[in-house]
Amino acid sequence: MPAPLIEMRGITKSFGAVKANEAVDLSVAPGEILGLLGENGAGKTTLMNVLFGAYAPDAGEILIQGQPVRITSSADALAAGIGMVHQHFHLAPRLTVLENLLIGIPGKAGRIDRAGGLARL
Ligand SMILES: Nc1ncnc2c1ncn2[C@@H]1O[C@H](COP(=O)(O)OP(=O)(O)O)[C@@H](O)[C@H]1O
Ligand SMILES: [Mg+2]
Repeated sequence: MPAPLIEMRGITKSFGAVKANEAVDLSVAPGEILGLLGENGAGKTTLMNVLFGAYAPDAGEILIQGQPVRITSSADALAAGIGMVHQHFHLAPRLTVLENLLIGIPGKAGRIDRAGGLARL
């Protein structure tokens, strides 16, 4: 069996006294579409922010195709092939879904590279 495309192991992240993620394991296989369900405040956004490098976890590790990676910024995440579409209040409403996906990825002359992004889908 191939290694998972993305693996998070034992991710723990606290904000002061609030433990948003406690020893969370998550694994995504190539081609898999995974829904992460949980009540408000369950820690879904925190976990995705850890994966995207917005937060440093207090403990745990992230592996891409079985290789441990250090994701300490969104740029690291993008370089590892991890994109993020934020919740509605972080989206640019005038842009399409594709454009919102590409907004953090520099295109030519500071413009969104729609054709290049479509080709990578
Ligand atoms: N930046 C933050 N500062 C302090 N507490 C936070 C922060 N982000 C999330 N939390 C807290 O962590 C817990 C998990 O939140 P969150 O990951 O947003 O849950 P979900 O996305 O599942 O609704 C909640 O108790 C929330 O209040
Ligand atoms: Mg959320």
